[in-house]
Amino acid sequence: MVSRLSVREFDPEIAELLVRETERQEFGLEMIPSENFVSEAVLEANGSVLTNKYAEGLPGSRYYGGCEVVDEVERLAIERLKQLFGAEAVNVQLHSGATANQAVFEASILPGDTIMGMKLDHGGHLTHGLKVNFSGKHYNVVAYGVREDTHLIDHDELLELAKQHRPKLIIAGASAYSRAIDFAFFRKVADEVGAVLLCDIAHYAGLVVAGEYPNPVGHSDFVTTTTHKTLRGPRSGVAMCKEKFIKALNRAVFPGLQGGPHMHTIAAKAVAFREALQPEFKEYAKQIVRNARALSSALQAEGFEIVSGGTDSHLLVIDVRPADITGKEAAECLEGVGITANMNTIPYDPQPPRVCSGVRLGTPALTTRGMGESEMVRIAKFISSAVQVRNDVTKQKKLREDIREFSRAFPLYSHRLVSGEG
Ligand SMILES: Cc1ncc(COP(=O)(O)O)c(C=O)c1O
Repeated sequence: MVSRLSVREFDPEIAELLVRETERQEFGLEMIPSENFVSEAVLEANGSVLTNKYAEGLPGSRYYGGCEVVDEVERLAIERLKQLFGAEAVNVQLHSGATANQAVFEASILPGDTIMGMKLDHGGHLTHGLKVNFSGKHYNVVAYGVREDTHLIDHDELLELAKQHRPKLIIAGASAYSRAIDFAFFRKVADEVGAVLLCDIAHYAGLVVAGEYPNPVGHSDFVTTTTHKTLRGPRSGVAMCKEKFIKALNRAVFPGLQGGPHMHTIAAKAVAFREALQPEFKEYAKQIVRNARALSSALQAEGFEIVSGGTDSHLLVIDVRPADITGKEAAECLEGVGITANMNTIPYDPQPPRVCSGVRLGTPALTTRGMGESEMVRIAKFISSAVQVRNDVTKQKKLREDIREFSRAFPLYSHRLVSGEG
């Protein structure tokens, strides 16, 4: 018989840590743009008995018996994902955003081929060609960036580099770029040089669903995304593609890169996709963007500079140099008062990456808590105070208390999860 003991009964050490982490999430301000809070329905599916099941293969064509139930789960996830983005074909088995990108590389190009992605220190992601990542190790990387004067993607440079190096794969998408990406332009460049186009919307997916950010699906050969950021699902990934690429994509995922799919996570993804199909999700995504704009303006009023002067999405990067502080110091003093964010390079950063001059902030998690524009103004003041009182322990403590009180007014999970009971 399986053990019937709860985590609390069997493993008090882990139970205590689960409670502590839940409290950390409840009583602080989560401003990492790639994080969010899933619903209790998504948590439930993610913690379900589907974790017990092996299901190598695809629905209706598995290498294991007993897959009749999980086949239905995966089919639902597939159909809902197609409906959300208008995709021709999808694979929902990817374990993460990084693996989704790797699968697309495997499905479309060969080691040694040339790829083009955005420079990491201008906002790109490590799977778009960083030297120490698979993408930079096994492929020849040509990186494009943003203009120094506008901080917008330099289309002229991009086209020129593409014509010069004739990449086999071009990647559009980023981790720290707040502006709308012109996916149609990327399509034109890809067509001009005969490249495959991958649009990685890991950050923007939830906004795309709601029509708050351009949808790249019609322009791309492949689209990848994480499911845990603005899309507010479990920690995972998915890939979409034109019908003609689906066989290659599916083979790249299994047996190419992965073994058994995580069926519990696929069930949780299906639940999250159903949530994202509801009209309330559109309102949620709209509010994320309204909040990011309000935060950006309020921070400007507090004397901070915002990279590119604002945002079209859920995130923004502050240039903290006017406060005479580095990005690392700024992120640390925010952490000290209960605001979780991460240091980030700004384009053409004079500081090395481990020190940098920026902090990246996002509004998806705060918006899930029910916060609106007036709270963003309050939070901009908290951020400004955190920087000002960074050398005063008493004032820092008081600010930490104020932020805790402020967060309490926006409860997240039900009592049973916060207390670890039940
Ligand atoms: C643009 C982009 N692609 C891919 C990923 C990788 O996702 P994961 O952390 O799930 O591997 C991220 C995550 O930060 C991202 O921002």
